[in-house]
Amino acid sequence: MFLPQELIRKKRDGEPLTPAAIQFLVDGMTNGRLVDSQVAALAMAIYFRDMNIEESTALTCAMRDSGSVLNWQSLALDGPVLDKHSTGGLGDVVSLILGPIIAACGGYVPMISGRGLGHTGGTLDKLESIAGYTVDPSSQVFERTVREAGVAIIGASRELAPADKRLYSIRDVTATVDSLPLICASILSKKLAEGLDSLVIDIKVGSGSLMANLDQSRDLAHRMVAVARQAGCKTSALLTDMNQPLASSCGNALEVMEVMDYLTGECRNSRLHEVTTTLAQMMLIDSGIAEHAEQAQLKIAKALSSGEAAERFNKMVRMLGGPQDLLAQGKSHFNQAPVIAPLLAPQDGYLSQMDCREIGLSVVALGGGRSRPSQNIDYRVGLNRWWPLGEKICKGDPLVMIHAADQTSWQKAAQRLREAILITDEKSSVPDVIYQQINE
Ligand code: URA
Repeated sequence: MFLPQELIRKKRDGEPLTPAAIQFLVDGMTNGRLVDSQVAALAMAIYFRDMNIEESTALTCAMRDSGSVLNWQSLALDGPVLDKHSTGGLGDVVSLILGPIIAACGGYVPMISGRGLGHTGGTLDKLESIAGYTVDPSSQVFERTVREAGVAIIGASRELAPADKRLYSIRDVTATVDSLPLICASILSKKLAEGLDSLVIDIKVGSGSLMANLDQSRDLAHRMVAVARQAGCKTSALLTDMNQPLASSCGNALEVMEVMDYLTGECRNSRLHEVTTTLAQMMLIDSGIAEHAEQAQLKIAKALSSGEAAERFNKMVRMLGGPQDLLAQGKSHFNQAPVIAPLLAPQDGYLSQMDCREIGLSVVALGGGRSRPSQNIDYRVGLNRWWPLGEKICKGDPLVMIHAADQTSWQKAAQRLREAILITDEKSSVPDVIYQQINE
C-alpha cells in the first residue's frame, strides 16, 4: 500500500517511481482519492524532476487504461487502424485532408480531436462550421462511419483517458503544462486509447507552437516516439514549421473551404501539401500499406487525382449528419462574414516575420475562437489569402483578407495584425516547412 505524500516526496527528491506506484497515483487521480493539492504537487515535482522513459511509459499506459480503450476487432476491418496527432498550430487543416487520403489508401482513421486551445484552432470547431455535422455521434454511427468512409473525426465524448482530464485541468492552473513527461502522457494516453496499430505525431516548431524551441520540440518528439513504441504502437514524428500559418486561411469555415479546394484540386498551398503528404507517407509505411516512400507517394497521388480522397471526406461529412454532397455545394454552403476587406501593406519590402500566436489571438478576438470554454464561435470570421513569408511586397498590396462580423472588429484585427508582422528592406531566410523526421 502506498501513501501519496510519500510518492510525491520521492519524486520531489529526484527518485524514480515504480510502475506500481505510478499506477496507484493514476488510479487516485481517476477515482478522486488523490485530492487536487496532491495532484498539483505531483505535477510540479514531475515538472522539476522529469521522468525517465520507463516512468513516462508507465504513466502513459496507466492514463490510457484509466478509461475505455477502443477495440476494432469486432468490425473485422481489412486494413490497419491509424491516426495522426498534431501539437496544434495556425491554419493546421492537415487532419481534414490526411484522414480521407489514408482512408482512400486502405487505412482506417478513428480520429478523436479537440477544440480550439488558446491561439490555435480546433479540428472540431472547424467541422462544426459544416451545418448538421455532429462531433458527438452514437458509438454505432461512429463505428459505421469508420468502417464505410474509412475516416471519422469526432470529439472525446466517450470516457477516454479520464485521468488526463483531471490532471490536465490541474496542470492548466498550476503552471505545469509545459513539462515533457506530462505532455507526452497526456497526448499519448488519449491517442493510444483509440486502439491504434500506428500513429504519427506532427510536432510544431516556431512562434505559434506548444514548445518554445527546436531542441525542446525534438526532445518531445524522441520521447513520444520511444514511449508510444514501448506501449506497443508503432509511432513516428515529424517536426514542422509554425512561423507562419500552415494553410492560407485561419478561421473555421475559411479553413474548411480551403480543405475543399485542396481535395477537389482547385488550389493547393504548397507548404500544406508538403506536410500532409509527408505525414501520409509515414503513416502508409509505418502501417505496412506501402513498402517504401515512392510507393506511398504514388498511392497518395492516386487518392487525390482519382477523387477518392474527396469522396471519403464527403462520405464522412454525410454519415456524420452534414450535407449529402458538400463538395458539390462548394462555398455556397457557408455564410460569409459581413465585412471582408484586405489589409494593405503599409510599405514596400519583404514580409519577414509573422507572430503566429498574435495572429491566432486576432482570430479569437474576431469571434473565431473562445476565450472562455462556454463561448459561442462565429464560424464566418477569420483571415485568408495570406501573403507568403519571404516574398517581396509593395505598399498597398493586399497582405491578407480579414473577414469580420463588423467594421469595429475588422479595425481591431487590422491593428493587431499590423503589429504581428514585420516588413523589412532586406529579404530574410524562410525556414523549410519540414525540419526533421524522427522514427526512433
Ligand atoms: N495537448 C494535450 O492534450 N495535452 C498537453 O499536455 C498539451 C497539449
